[in-house]
Amino acid sequence: MKVLVIGGAGYIGSHVTREFLDRGHEVTVFDNLSSGLRENLFPEAVFIHGDILRYEQLTSAMRERGGMEAAVYLAAFKAVGESMVKPEKYSVNNITGAMNLLNAASETGLKYIIFSSSAAVYGSPAYLPIDEKHPTNPENYYGFTKLEIERFLAWYDRLKGIRYASLRYFNAAGYDVEGRIKGLEQNPANLLPVIMEAARGMREELRVFGDDYDTPDGTCIRDYIHVSDLAIAHALALEYIAKNGESLTVNLGSETGSSVQEVLETARRLTGQPIPSRVVGRRPGDPAKLTASAALARELLGWKARHSDLETLIKTSWEVYRNVPLGK
Ligand code: WQD
Repeated sequence: MKVLVIGGAGYIGSHVTREFLDRGHEVTVFDNLSSGLRENLFPEAVFIHGDILRYEQLTSAMRERGGMEAAVYLAAFKAVGESMVKPEKYSVNNITGAMNLLNAASETGLKYIIFSSSAAVYGSPAYLPIDEKHPTNPENYYGFTKLEIERFLAWYDRLKGIRYASLRYFNAAGYDVEGRIKGLEQNPANLLPVIMEAARGMREELRVFGDDYDTPDGTCIRDYIHVSDLAIAHALALEYIAKNGESLTVNLGSETGSSVQEVLETARRLTGQPIPSRVVGRRPGDPAKLTASAALARELLGWKARHSDLETLIKTSWEVYRNVPLGK
Protein backbone atom coordinates (compact mmCIF):
# COMPACT_ATOMS: atom_id res chain seq x y z
CA MET A 1 0.00 0.00 0.00
CA LYS A 2 1.13 3.61 -0.48
CA VAL A 3 1.65 4.92 3.03
CA LEU A 4 2.54 8.41 4.22
CA VAL A 5 4.36 8.25 7.56
CA ILE A 6 3.99 11.67 9.16
CA GLY A 7 6.79 12.04 11.68
CA GLY A 8 8.66 9.16 10.04
CA ALA A 9 12.09 10.55 10.96
CA GLY A 10 11.33 10.39 14.67
CA TYR A 11 12.01 7.70 17.22
CA ILE A 12 8.82 5.69 16.78
CA GLY A 13 8.26 6.88 13.20
CA SER A 14 11.55 5.47 11.97
CA HIS A 15 10.74 2.06 13.46
CA VAL A 16 7.28 2.13 11.87
CA THR A 17 8.78 3.15 8.52
CA ARG A 18 11.29 0.28 8.69
CA GLU A 19 8.54 -2.24 9.44
CA PHE A 20 6.29 -1.02 6.60
CA LEU A 21 9.22 -1.13 4.15
CA ASP A 22 10.08 -4.66 5.29
CA ARG A 23 6.49 -5.68 4.53
CA GLY A 24 6.69 -4.30 1.00
CA HIS A 25 4.69 -1.11 1.41
CA GLU A 26 5.59 2.00 -0.61
CA VAL A 27 6.51 4.43 2.14
CA THR A 28 6.80 8.19 1.93
CA VAL A 29 8.12 9.93 5.04
CA PHE A 30 6.76 13.41 5.76
CA ASP A 31 8.63 15.19 8.54
CA ASN A 32 9.60 18.76 9.41
CA LEU A 33 12.74 17.52 11.19
CA SER A 34 11.93 19.59 14.29
CA SER A 35 12.83 16.57 16.39
CA GLY A 36 13.17 13.92 13.69
CA LEU A 37 16.61 13.14 12.35
CA ARG A 38 17.99 12.71 8.84
CA GLU A 39 19.99 9.75 10.09
CA ASN A 40 16.66 7.97 10.77
CA LEU A 41 15.67 8.08 7.07
CA PHE A 42 15.96 5.04 4.81
CA PRO A 43 16.92 5.27 1.13
CA GLU A 44 14.00 3.01 0.13
CA ALA A 45 11.46 5.54 1.45
CA VAL A 46 10.77 8.82 -0.35
CA PHE A 47 11.38 11.74 1.99
CA ILE A 48 9.33 14.95 1.92
CA HIS A 49 10.53 17.74 4.17
CA GLY A 50 7.17 19.20 5.12
CA ASP A 51 5.10 20.46 7.99
CA ILE A 52 1.69 19.14 9.03
CA LEU A 53 0.68 22.69 9.93
CA ARG A 54 1.13 23.73 6.28
CA TYR A 55 -2.07 22.32 4.85
CA GLU A 56 -1.03 22.63 1.21
CA GLN A 57 2.21 20.76 1.87
CA LEU A 58 0.21 17.95 3.40
CA THR A 59 -2.32 17.66 0.57
CA SER A 60 0.42 17.75 -2.03
CA ALA A 61 2.32 14.99 -0.19
CA MET A 62 -0.87 12.90 -0.14
CA ARG A 63 -1.15 13.29 -3.91
CA GLU A 64 2.43 12.11 -4.55
CA ARG A 65 3.17 8.75 -6.20
CA GLY A 66 -0.32 8.52 -7.65
CA GLY A 67 -2.01 9.20 -4.30
CA MET A 68 -1.52 7.86 -0.79
CA GLU A 69 -3.95 5.29 0.55
CA ALA A 70 -2.97 5.44 4.20
CA ALA A 71 -1.29 7.81 6.65
CA VAL A 72 0.38 7.06 9.97
CA TYR A 73 0.27 10.06 12.28
CA LEU A 74 3.28 10.21 14.59
CA ALA A 75 4.14 13.89 14.50
CA ALA A 76 2.79 15.03 17.86
CA PHE A 77 4.56 16.60 20.82
CA LYS A 78 4.66 14.19 23.74
CA ALA A 79 6.21 15.77 26.81
CA VAL A 80 3.56 15.43 29.50
CA GLY A 81 5.06 18.02 31.88
CA GLU A 82 5.55 20.60 29.14
CA SER A 83 1.95 20.16 27.97
CA MET A 84 0.75 21.46 31.34
CA VAL A 85 2.84 24.62 31.04
CA LYS A 86 2.50 25.27 27.31
CA PRO A 87 -0.94 23.98 26.29
CA GLU A 88 -0.93 26.37 23.30
CA LYS A 89 1.95 24.46 21.72
CA TYR A 90 0.07 21.17 22.11
CA SER A 91 -3.19 22.62 20.83
CA VAL A 92 -1.61 23.90 17.66
CA ASN A 93 0.69 21.05 16.84
CA ASN A 94 -1.32 18.07 18.02
CA ILE A 95 -4.92 19.17 17.51
CA THR A 96 -4.58 21.54 14.54
CA GLY A 97 -2.15 19.06 13.01
CA ALA A 98 -4.73 16.29 13.35
CA MET A 99 -7.48 18.47 11.86
CA ASN A 100 -5.25 19.24 8.88
CA LEU A 101 -4.60 15.54 8.49
CA LEU A 102 -8.30 14.66 8.55
CA ASN A 103 -9.27 17.46 6.18
CA ALA A 104 -6.44 16.66 3.80
CA ALA A 105 -7.42 12.97 3.90
CA SER A 106 -11.00 13.89 3.10
CA GLU A 107 -9.94 16.24 0.28
CA THR A 108 -7.50 13.82 -1.37
CA GLY A 109 -9.47 10.61 -0.84
CA LEU A 110 -7.00 9.00 1.58
CA LYS A 111 -8.83 6.08 3.16
CA TYR A 112 -6.96 4.93 6.25
CA ILE A 113 -5.32 6.63 9.23
CA ILE A 114 -3.20 4.97 11.90
CA PHE A 115 -3.08 7.22 14.93
CA SER A 116 -0.56 7.02 17.73
CA SER A 117 -2.67 7.50 20.83
CA SER A 118 -1.60 6.95 24.41
CA ALA A 119 -2.40 5.31 27.70
CA ALA A 120 -2.50 8.93 28.93
CA VAL A 121 -6.14 9.05 27.72
CA TYR A 122 -7.14 6.94 30.75
CA GLY A 123 -5.73 9.05 33.59
CA SER A 124 -5.28 7.44 37.00
CA PRO A 125 -6.23 3.77 36.89
CA ALA A 126 -9.54 2.79 38.46
CA TYR A 127 -8.51 -0.86 38.05
CA LEU A 128 -5.66 -2.89 36.58
CA PRO A 129 -4.80 -4.06 34.03
CA ILE A 130 -6.31 -1.25 32.00
CA ASP A 131 -8.48 -2.42 29.13
CA GLU A 132 -10.15 -0.27 26.47
CA LYS A 133 -13.40 -0.09 28.49
CA HIS A 134 -11.62 1.72 31.30
CA PRO A 135 -13.04 5.27 31.69
CA THR A 136 -11.09 7.94 29.84
CA ASN A 137 -10.17 10.84 32.06
CA PRO A 138 -6.84 12.36 31.00
CA GLU A 139 -5.00 14.16 33.77
CA ASN A 140 -2.61 16.08 31.59
CA TYR A 141 -3.13 18.27 28.54
CA TYR A 142 -1.09 15.95 26.34
CA GLY A 143 -3.49 13.07 27.10
CA PHE A 144 -6.44 15.39 26.51
CA THR A 145 -5.16 16.20 22.97
CA LYS A 146 -4.90 12.48 22.22
CA LEU A 147 -8.44 11.79 23.40
CA GLU A 148 -9.87 14.73 21.44
CA ILE A 149 -8.16 13.49 18.30
CA GLU A 150 -9.69 10.05 18.83
CA ARG A 151 -13.10 11.74 18.89
CA PHE A 152 -12.42 13.66 15.67
CA LEU A 153 -11.35 10.42 14.05
CA ALA A 154 -14.61 8.77 15.06
CA TRP A 155 -16.61 11.62 13.50
CA TYR A 156 -14.67 11.56 10.24
CA ASP A 157 -15.14 7.81 10.11
CA ARG A 158 -18.89 8.31 10.42
CA LEU A 159 -19.19 11.32 8.11
CA LYS A 160 -16.45 10.72 5.58
CA GLY A 161 -15.81 6.97 5.73
CA ILE A 162 -12.16 7.41 6.72
CA ARG A 163 -11.24 4.29 8.68
CA TYR A 164 -8.75 4.59 11.50
CA ALA A 165 -6.81 2.60 14.03
CA SER A 166 -6.18 4.36 17.30
CA LEU A 167 -3.26 2.71 19.08
CA ARG A 168 -2.99 3.50 22.77
CA TYR A 169 0.66 2.96 23.60
CA PHE A 170 1.88 2.31 27.09
CA ASN A 171 5.61 3.07 27.74
CA ALA A 172 7.45 2.83 24.42
CA ALA A 173 11.14 1.93 24.72
CA GLY A 174 13.99 0.01 23.08
CA TYR A 175 15.57 0.17 19.63
CA ASP A 176 15.19 -1.85 16.44
CA VAL A 177 15.94 -5.49 17.27
CA GLU A 178 18.06 -5.75 14.10
CA GLY A 179 20.12 -2.69 15.01
CA ARG A 180 19.18 -0.63 11.94
CA ILE A 181 18.08 2.53 13.79
CA LYS A 182 20.49 4.62 15.81
CA GLY A 183 19.11 8.14 16.12
CA LEU A 184 19.05 9.39 19.69
CA GLU A 185 16.13 11.32 21.10
CA GLN A 186 17.22 14.79 22.11
CA ASN A 187 16.79 15.76 25.78
CA PRO A 188 14.88 12.65 26.72
CA ALA A 189 12.81 12.57 29.90
CA ASN A 190 11.60 8.95 29.77
CA LEU A 191 13.12 6.34 32.03
CA LEU A 192 14.98 4.09 29.60
CA PRO A 193 16.85 6.77 27.61
CA VAL A 194 17.68 8.60 30.85
CA ILE A 195 19.17 5.38 32.26
CA MET A 196 21.10 4.84 29.03
CA GLU A 197 22.50 8.36 29.13
CA ALA A 198 23.62 7.81 32.71
CA ALA A 199 25.18 4.48 31.71
CA ARG A 200 27.12 6.14 28.89
CA GLY A 201 28.26 9.04 31.05
CA MET A 202 26.17 11.54 29.08
CA ARG A 203 24.46 12.57 32.30
CA GLU A 204 25.53 12.35 35.90
CA GLU A 205 22.86 10.10 37.34
CA LEU A 206 19.34 8.76 37.23
CA ARG A 207 17.04 10.56 39.60
CA VAL A 208 14.51 8.01 40.88
CA PHE A 209 11.23 9.83 41.39
CA GLY A 210 10.12 8.37 44.71
CA ASP A 211 10.67 5.04 46.45
CA ASP A 212 7.75 5.22 48.87
CA TYR A 213 4.96 4.02 46.56
CA ASP A 214 2.69 1.15 47.44
CA THR A 215 4.63 -1.36 45.31
CA PRO A 216 6.95 -4.23 46.34
CA ASP A 217 10.15 -2.16 46.12
CA GLY A 218 8.51 1.25 46.57
CA THR A 219 9.20 2.50 43.02
CA CYS A 220 6.59 2.94 40.29
CA ILE A 221 5.58 0.10 38.01
CA ARG A 222 5.04 0.60 34.29
CA ASP A 223 4.31 -1.48 31.22
CA TYR A 224 7.25 -1.09 28.83
CA ILE A 225 6.58 -1.97 25.23
CA HIS A 226 9.32 -2.38 22.64
CA VAL A 227 9.15 -0.04 19.62
CA SER A 228 9.64 -2.97 17.27
CA ASP A 229 6.49 -4.54 18.77
CA LEU A 230 4.70 -1.21 18.35
CA ALA A 231 5.83 -0.98 14.72
CA ILE A 232 4.49 -4.47 13.95
CA ALA A 233 1.14 -3.52 15.50
CA HIS A 234 0.88 -0.50 13.18
CA ALA A 235 1.27 -2.72 10.13
CA LEU A 236 -1.26 -5.27 11.43
CA ALA A 237 -3.71 -2.48 12.30
CA LEU A 238 -3.56 -1.11 8.76
CA GLU A 239 -4.17 -4.58 7.34
CA TYR A 240 -7.12 -5.02 9.71
CA ILE A 241 -8.94 -1.79 8.91
CA ALA A 242 -8.35 -2.21 5.18
CA LYS A 243 -9.58 -5.81 5.18
CA ASN A 244 -12.56 -5.39 7.50
CA GLY A 245 -13.58 -1.88 6.54
CA GLU A 246 -13.96 -0.94 10.19
CA SER A 247 -12.01 1.22 12.62
CA LEU A 248 -10.52 0.08 15.89
CA THR A 249 -9.09 1.38 19.16
CA VAL A 250 -6.69 -0.87 21.04
CA ASN A 251 -4.12 -0.80 23.81
CA LEU A 252 -0.56 -1.74 23.00
CA GLY A 253 1.32 -2.96 26.03
CA SER A 254 3.37 -5.94 27.13
CA GLU A 255 0.98 -6.83 29.98
CA THR A 256 4.01 -6.99 32.27
CA GLY A 257 4.82 -4.49 34.98
CA SER A 258 8.42 -3.50 35.80
CA SER A 259 9.46 -1.17 38.57
CA VAL A 260 11.96 1.67 38.17
CA GLN A 261 14.30 -0.22 40.49
CA GLU A 262 14.05 -3.41 38.43
CA VAL A 263 14.75 -1.56 35.20
CA LEU A 264 17.74 0.15 36.78
CA GLU A 265 19.21 -3.03 38.25
CA THR A 266 18.73 -4.96 35.00
CA ALA A 267 20.42 -2.12 33.12
CA ARG A 268 23.37 -2.20 35.51
CA ARG A 269 23.75 -5.94 35.01
CA LEU A 270 23.44 -5.90 31.23
CA THR A 271 25.57 -2.84 30.54
CA GLY A 272 28.21 -3.56 33.17
CA GLN A 273 28.08 0.15 34.02
CA PRO A 274 27.58 1.49 37.54
CA ILE A 275 24.73 3.91 36.51
CA PRO A 276 24.72 6.29 39.46
CA SER A 277 21.28 6.95 40.88
CA ARG A 278 19.69 8.98 43.63
CA VAL A 279 16.20 8.84 45.06
CA VAL A 280 14.46 12.20 44.94
CA GLY A 281 10.87 13.27 45.63
CA ARG A 282 7.87 11.95 43.74
CA ARG A 283 7.08 13.47 40.34
CA PRO A 284 3.60 15.02 40.39
CA GLY A 285 0.95 12.98 38.60
CA ASP A 286 2.76 9.61 38.63
CA PRO A 287 0.41 6.72 39.48
CA ALA A 288 2.06 3.89 41.46
CA LYS A 289 1.24 1.23 38.93
CA LEU A 290 0.10 1.07 35.31
CA THR A 291 -0.27 -2.07 33.25
CA ALA A 292 -2.16 -2.81 30.07
CA SER A 293 -4.52 -5.48 29.01
CA ALA A 294 -3.68 -6.14 25.37
CA ALA A 295 -6.35 -8.81 24.98
CA LEU A 296 -8.23 -6.83 22.33
CA ALA A 297 -5.14 -6.32 20.14
CA ARG A 298 -4.45 -10.03 20.50
CA GLU A 299 -7.98 -10.93 19.48
CA LEU A 300 -8.43 -8.47 16.60
CA LEU A 301 -4.90 -8.21 15.23
CA GLY A 302 -3.32 -11.47 16.34
CA TRP A 303 -0.66 -9.23 17.92
CA LYS A 304 1.35 -9.94 21.01
CA ALA A 305 4.47 -8.26 22.37
CA ARG A 306 7.46 -10.43 21.48
CA HIS A 307 10.44 -8.18 22.11
CA SER A 308 9.29 -6.40 25.26
CA ASP A 309 11.09 -8.31 27.99
CA LEU A 310 13.40 -6.05 30.00
CA GLU A 311 16.47 -7.76 28.65
CA THR A 312 15.63 -7.03 25.01
CA LEU A 313 14.47 -3.50 25.81
CA ILE A 314 17.74 -2.72 27.52
CA LYS A 315 20.11 -4.65 25.24
CA THR A 316 18.76 -3.04 22.06
CA SER A 317 18.98 0.40 23.66
CA TRP A 318 22.48 -0.16 24.99
CA GLU A 319 23.62 -1.34 21.56
CA VAL A 320 22.80 2.18 20.33
CA TYR A 321 24.02 4.16 23.35
CA ARG A 322 27.27 2.31 23.90
CA ASN A 323 28.34 3.31 20.39
CA VAL A 324 27.61 7.01 20.80
CA PRO A 325 30.86 8.95 20.56
CA LEU A 326 31.46 10.61 23.89
CA GLY A 327 31.04 14.34 23.93
CA LYS A 328 27.76 14.01 21.99
C1 WQD B 1 8.45 5.91 33.82
C2 WQD B 1 8.74 5.71 35.30
C3 WQD B 1 8.83 7.79 36.54
C4 WQD B 1 12.38 9.38 34.52
C5 WQD B 1 4.92 8.72 29.88
C6 WQD B 1 3.61 9.40 29.57
C7 WQD B 1 2.66 8.41 28.96
C8 WQD B 1 3.30 7.72 27.77
C9 WQD B 1 4.59 7.11 28.15
C10 WQD B 1 3.17 8.79 25.61
C11 WQD B 1 7.90 6.63 36.20
C12 WQD B 1 10.18 7.11 36.53
C13 WQD B 1 11.35 8.54 34.90
C14 WQD B 1 13.42 9.67 35.47
C15 WQD B 1 12.29 8.25 37.08
N1 WQD B 1 3.66 8.63 26.73
N2 WQD B 1 11.30 7.99 36.15
N3 WQD B 1 13.33 9.09 36.71
O1 WQD B 1 5.40 8.94 32.89
O2 WQD B 1 5.14 6.42 32.85
O3 WQD B 1 4.68 7.72 30.86
O4 WQD B 1 5.43 8.10 28.73
O5 WQD B 1 2.08 8.56 25.24
O6 WQD B 1 1.55 9.10 28.59
O7 WQD B 1 3.06 9.90 30.78
O8 WQD B 1 6.99 7.46 31.52
O9 WQD B 1 9.39 7.20 31.17
O10 WQD B 1 8.52 9.38 32.14
O11 WQD B 1 8.47 7.31 33.55
O12 WQD B 1 12.28 7.76 38.21
O13 WQD B 1 14.36 10.43 35.21
O14 WQD B 1 10.11 6.11 35.55
O15 WQD B 1 8.56 8.36 37.77
O16 WQD B 1 7.61 5.90 37.37
P1 WQD B 1 5.51 7.67 32.17
P2 WQD B 1 8.40 7.91 32.04
